[in-house]
Amino acid sequence: MHVKHMNNKYKNMKKESGGVVYVSHRESFCYGHRMHSKYFSKEDNKKIFGKCNEINGHGHNCILEVTLRGNVNNKSGMITKDVKELKKAIKDVIVNEWDHKNLNLDTSIFRDLNPTVENMVVAIWNLLQKRIKDGRLYEVKLHETDKISAYYRGK
Ligand code: NI
Repeated sequence: MHVKHMNNKYKNMKKESGGVVYVSHRESFCYGHRMHSKYFSKEDNKKIFGKCNEINGHGHNCILEVTLRGNVNNKSGMITKDVKELKKAIKDVIVNEWDHKNLNLDTSIFRDLNPTVENMVVAIWNLLQKRIKDGRLYEVKLHETDKISAYYRGK
C-alpha cells in the first residue's frame, strides 16, 4: 500500500517534470497601409499621423512572431502534437490574406479600423484564436520595422 502510494507520487512528478515551455514561430510578410482614423478630422489625422497619413499609403516588411505556451509532453518532448499546426494556421489566416495587400483597401477588418500595429496584433490574435482553441496561444508579436514592435497576450 505504502509502495503503491509512493509510485503514484513519483509518476505524477515525472509527468510534470517537463514544465511549462514557450515556443515561438516567425513568419515574414509585406503589407501596405495608411494611418487614418475615421474619428478624427482630415487635419487632425495629418497632425497625429504625419507622413503615415499620406493618401496613397506606404509599406512595411514585417516579422510576425507567435508564441504558444504548454506543458512539455513526456513522450514527444514537445508542447504541441503537431509542430506544423501553428505554421499552417499563421499562413492560412494571416500571411495568405495580408501578404502584399493594402490593408485599408484589401481586407475587411481594416476597412473601418485604423491599421496601426496595435490594432494589427489584436486582430491577428483574434483570428488565430479561432484555430488554436485550447488555450495554448500565449503571445502575438509584430515587428513592424527594426525599431517598432507591438505584442498582445489576449484580454
Ligand atoms: Ni506604417
